[in-house]
Amino acid sequence: MTLLLGSVLGSVLGSLLAYEWCFIGLIVAVIAYYYISWRNAVSYWKDRHICGPKPIPIFGNILGLYLNPGPLNELQWYKKYGKIYGLYMSSKPTLTVADPQLIQQILVKDFNIFRNRPVIPGTDMLAMTTARDEDWKRIRAIANPTFTSGKIRKMYGIINHCGQDFIGSLDKDVSNGVNEVELKRLMGAYTMDVIASCAFAAKTNTYADPNNPFTTNGANITNGPGSIYKRLLRRTLPTLIVSSNIYRKLLGPRGSNAAFFVDFTRSLIKKRRDNNEKHNDFLQLLMDAERPEGDIREASDANEAHHVNEGKDEMKAYAEAFTGVSEKKLTEDEILAQCFLFFIAGYETTSTALSFCAYELALNPGLQDRLYEETKEAFNEKGEMDYSVLSRLPFIDALLSETLRHYPPISRLPRTAAQDVMLGSTGVKIEKGVSVEIPVYAIHHDPDHYPDPFTFNPDRFMPQNRDHIQPYTYLPFGSGPRNCIGMRFALLSAKLVLAKISHSFRFSRVTDTDVPVIYTTTLLNKLLPKRLVVGVHKR
Ligand code: HEM
Repeated sequence: MTLLLGSVLGSVLGSLLAYEWCFIGLIVAVIAYYYISWRNAVSYWKDRHICGPKPIPIFGNILGLYLNPGPLNELQWYKKYGKIYGLYMSSKPTLTVADPQLIQQILVKDFNIFRNRPVIPGTDMLAMTTARDEDWKRIRAIANPTFTSGKIRKMYGIINHCGQDFIGSLDKDVSNGVNEVELKRLMGAYTMDVIASCAFAAKTNTYADPNNPFTTNGANITNGPGSIYKRLLRRTLPTLIVSSNIYRKLLGPRGSNAAFFVDFTRSLIKKRRDNNEKHNDFLQLLMDAERPEGDIREASDANEAHHVNEGKDEMKAYAEAFTGVSEKKLTEDEILAQCFLFFIAGYETTSTALSFCAYELALNPGLQDRLYEETKEAFNEKGEMDYSVLSRLPFIDALLSETLRHYPPISRLPRTAAQDVMLGSTGVKIEKGVSVEIPVYAIHHDPDHYPDPFTFNPDRFMPQNRDHIQPYTYLPFGSGPRNCIGMRFALLSAKLVLAKISHSFRFSRVTDTDVPVIYTTTLLNKLLPKRLVVGVHKR
């Protein structure tokens, strides 16, 4: 019998072709990889006496974190395990840290140790969000001046134009009997126009023409077919597979949709160089970027709520983070990567924030009246609003700040330790290569930081109350030298369109308005609503 089995097995194995052997070898290697990494990892936090939710093989806590309506899960963990708890992203141990002082240590005081985000295999390392160490420092140092208030002021005209077109199209629709809108689509159209105009000098008019290639390619990149499953594979398959060329080609995150933007920008750069053309947009600013010496930060928007975390430590960290960069210019490939990134990083975040803000206005007519009263005074006789007037209006700033507190578009901030480091006086050591994540959504909903956290109350951010906000408990744009570079731009474009909308329209709650919001699954650290339907009427 044994002889017979042996000879059958022998002939089956003998008949296998070389590539079949390779395939079997690959499967065995993947299983061994999971087994070994899982066995090594699963006791990591337990051995260090740090509690946290139970992980499941292969996925760790990813499914719990991102498949359920993520933020709600996060809140339960925060309540159950406190301000420090251990998670596993697949088999990678990741420490959640929610204590404000420890957050300041990670994002600011020990910035040089925590300046990188974890590597996501298969992503573009030229883009600022994923670039590491000296590459990040150089790219960010050269790009920083592009986002100063002075430079953004120069783009105000372009943004204003997008706002006018958008209001014009909405006005036409409402006059023709449209009385309900889906806010993600509505605000997505405006944001797409603003970013395409400011990053690529491209007029998309997305509201009236939803099928233009910017809109379709952009939508496919952020939420294209199968994107959730691709993300799940990227997070769970071994790095070796995900970084391979064949994987990138078949299931890479961006593919032909990204190629559209890259080709478009490359031809635009060529055209501008050939014809010596100049524009007031990100592309031009990056093409002309010359890193200046010294601190380029300005105090001109000091009246906005995002300054709550700023003090001496922050200034010091910022100055130190960018010392010693001698290069002054970006290469063409780096310029392309940043323009594309501004589109990816800015489109969904800004349009989601605007959508949630308009949703809350629909639910709270009193807030709409306050917005209308504040902004109507600020428009001049031509129906325009000056940049400096807009950036000084307290209620619209408080309204957006409360929106970003209640619905932070990015719900977690990840960093990786470059060397072993003790976390404050907790006795917890973060080892080199281990990641930490800051649970922004949970912090923003902690009643100790924000009393009655599920009530939408912009007054928390009015100038007279802002002092009550503890530093490092308001983090919609992150903090420290690696915070959101596009913050001023996002706030400006959001405020401008909200002011314009409130001038001409009212939103209202209708039968299809979901209360509370129903969230969707993205497998990213994002907070996205499934739909946000509201009524719209002319004033
Ligand atoms: C309401 C809108 C936005 C929100 C809530 C938002 C939020 C964030 C957050 C939380 C981060 C991570 C910060 C950290 O890790 O400390 C980030 C990074 C970033 N954001 Fe934004 N963002 C918005 C709009 C924009 C816009 C409009 C742009 C570009 C035009 C942009 C470009 C970037 C870039 C390039 C980074 C990476 C910075 C780096 O790694 O150095 N964002 N953003």
